[in-house]
Amino acid sequence: TKVNSVSIRAEAINPDIRKTEDKVVDAVVVTELSKPLTAYCRCWRSGTFPLCDGGHVKHNKATGDNVGPLLLKKPKE
Ligand code: FES
Repeated sequence: TKVNSVSIRAEAINPDIRKTEDKVVDAVVVTELSKPLTAYCRCWRSGTFPLCDGGHVKHNKATGDNVGPLLLKKPKE
């Protein structure tokens, strides 16, 4: 496939997380957040998916990628 003259090879982004599921979907009820900060993985390399375990650091170093987590923060009171 070519997009804007760049060749794109079809490749799975998720190497090994919950592969028996047709689609990996997680839901969070925001009012249940109790911690001031929760980090959700967006690199699909976390050992604690859907939470970030810092695995993106190793991935970024190995690949030159720049992925990082989604941070959910409680508002300051
Ligand atoms: Fe995936 Fe941190 S381990 S974003």
